[in-house]
Amino acid sequence: MTQTGLEQPSQTAIRARYDFIAGWHDAIGRFTMTHRRGAIQALNVQPGDCVLDLACGAGANFKGVIADLESDGTLLGLDYSPGMLRQAHRKASRYPCLTLFLGDAARLPFADSVFDRIICTYSLKVIPPYRQALDEVVRVLKPGGVFVVLDGKLSSGSTRFLNRLTLWMAHGPMTDLARPLIDEIAQRFQEVQVKEYDLGHTFVAVARKAAQSLETRWTWPSR
Ligand SMILES: C[S@@+](CC[C@H](N)C(=O)[O-])C[C@H]1O[C@@H](n2cnc3c(N)ncnc32)[C@H](O)[C@@H]1O
Repeated sequence: MTQTGLEQPSQTAIRARYDFIAGWHDAIGRFTMTHRRGAIQALNVQPGDCVLDLACGAGANFKGVIADLESDGTLLGLDYSPGMLRQAHRKASRYPCLTLFLGDAARLPFADSVFDRIICTYSLKVIPPYRQALDEVVRVLKPGGVFVVLDGKLSSGSTRFLNRLTLWMAHGPMTDLARPLIDEIAQRFQEVQVKEYDLGHTFVAVARKAAQSLETRWTWPSR
């Protein structure tokens, strides 16, 4: 069950939905550019970084992220929908630093502590095993690395009377806006900053993974 009491869609249903809408996802994405730019700015990509765009979809974030990477950086985009990745692939030829992966956010095909930064936009409310995906983010992010989430949410403040409208606009059962994403992020990261937009119905969270502790950075010489 989803938080809104609806049946949790299967990952197969999610894939079919995004394969179906892949062709016009970029057009829908135009309405999100302002928040997207803000999220990419918050990611604060540095030249040479290794960046993951988690559930990258058709690649709406690529241009903004790559602009800051310069020539020696790397961007990896991963998504579960072959249709969305096909759209992303059309952009890939423009960006030699970009590599695409078909995969599951809950089982990332990457080693521990490899990414300087990870961005995930409008996807955590869709990915069925989103908690496992967050665990995976923590695993593959370097100590001190930054994770930025841009997503929708329900309002808990004075604008909660708009929640029904927001749920209706969010296309029903495939999108679970009631997931406690901010709490789940805060449980896994030491430092989290959250900004709300659209009367509390959109948020950008910037989380930083704890730097390595002294015990793991230094080992005492054995006698
Ligand atoms: C609303 S779209 C957002 C795409 C993109 N991040 C953007 O901002 O335009 C949600 C994406 O999540 C992907 N997705 C859903 N479940 C996933 C999973 N388990 N692993 C990876 N991607 C997944 C879908 O295929 C879809 O491309």
